[in-house]
Amino acid sequence: MELVLATKNEDKIREIKEALQNLPIRILTFKDFPKFPLLVEDKDTLNGNAKVKARGVAKFTHKIALADDTGLEVEALGGAPGVLSSRFAGEGASYEDNNRKLLSLLKKVPLHRRRATFRCVMVISDGAEREKVVEGTCQGRIVWRGRGRTGFGYDPLFQPQGYERTFAELSLKEKNRISHRGKALEKLKKILELWPKVK
Ligand code: IMP
Repeated sequence: MELVLATKNEDKIREIKEALQNLPIRILTFKDFPKFPLLVEDKDTLNGNAKVKARGVAKFTHKIALADDTGLEVEALGGAPGVLSSRFAGEGASYEDNNRKLLSLLKKVPLHRRRATFRCVMVISDGAEREKVVEGTCQGRIVWRGRGRTGFGYDPLFQPQGYERTFAELSLKEKNRISHRGKALEKLKKILELWPKVK
């Protein structure tokens, strides 16, 4: 079975490939296609954006596609940045820009109000009638200053519940074991095992 990852984010690709490495699946990425659609993520939910990406890439490549849309929901900010996580500091913002903005908004927010949740919605689609949605969440809090060099995005600022280290201080394997994406992928694995058998 072949599965195309509907993303150009190499950080997500690395984590998804690691989590699915033991499955008998050939994972394809944008690098396997000379042209790859750039889909506009203009929906106001993670679910909506993930569906646009999975359906669009499945239709374009004529293969089964998997999309991931992820958001960081910070309690003291009323759930922001959420679906706008990638553009928190504006269109084209870098990971560092977004992290700087988040830390600055939380400058005076005490520890007990720095709770946050990573939410990952994954959609697998054949571009026609077959589609499944899974979700994974991970709770934690936003630290005072970024720590760690692994991972990506908000990882240096996110300390998962029950851990002293941030996501960026965990190995890829450790992060996948507890992260929002890792949990969504665990659910997805069960769907992938059955996918070729169901007509
Ligand atoms: P999107 O799912 O491509 O819309 O990405 C949302 C943004 O959230 C990304 O640009 C990253 O900044 C951030 N993000 C997504 N997944 C993770 C993660 O696992 N750790 C840290 N940041 C993430």
